[in-house]
Amino acid sequence: MKLCVALDLPDKKENLKLAKEIKDFDIWLKVGLRSFIRDGRNFLEELKSINPDFNIFLDLKLYDIPNTMADAAEEIAKMGVEMFNVHASSGKVAMETVMKRLEKFEKRPIVLAVTALTSFDNESFRKIYGEDIDKKASEFAVDAYRCGLDGVVCSVYESKKIKSATSEKFITLTPGIRPFGEEAGDQKRVADIKTAKENMVDFIVVGRPVYKADNPKDIVGKILTKL
Ligand code: C5P
Repeated sequence: MKLCVALDLPDKKENLKLAKEIKDFDIWLKVGLRSFIRDGRNFLEELKSINPDFNIFLDLKLYDIPNTMADAAEEIAKMGVEMFNVHASSGKVAMETVMKRLEKFEKRPIVLAVTALTSFDNESFRKIYGEDIDKKASEFAVDAYRCGLDGVVCSVYESKKIKSATSEKFITLTPGIRPFGEEAGDQKRVADIKTAKENMVDFIVVGRPVYKADNPKDIVGKILTKL
């Protein structure tokens, strides 16, 4: 299991300070929409200059027509990030077109699909997708697998089910992790490291428990000993 730290601090300076504090660990960093819209590729370059071995997960959740998504995926691959994601609900043609476009890269990024946004409750999800969240999320995961994507973003509690419907090698990346049972904040379904392990999760995403800690370096070190 690998650790991905979410760089969700409010500005670039603070995110870079956090990255410097944890630069000596073998970890992934998650850069989301806010940071990327504001600080752009320059921010990614600055992260790599802190430690060229940092692995970057660009969490932009692409959703558009197939050709536009493939164009965006190609530009992301050119930037040299190690992982990015798309919405599975963009459809099978879009996911296939993205994967086809990435074939030309000798080393392409890992591509994950977002199945269902956790902000949806079942009723609001049904209004848009016409099915219950659990059922549709599994269907989306199978679509992503068949389209050649590498894995999905999902909850810890769906990880095993998704792997049995696809493959053990199909990556699961799970947010909502409270490594040692810390405060949940606005997360509804949280899990600790032990539970993530039991559910065969490949990547845990941890934000607040790291960047709100008095000493982020200590907590990252502690998490890594448990993976
Ligand atoms: O602070 P915390 O550990 O809750 O951060 C989790 C990170 O994962 C945040 O960047 C959040 O946007 C992201 N995320 C999530 N739930 C999802 C998808 C992404 O919490 N379903």
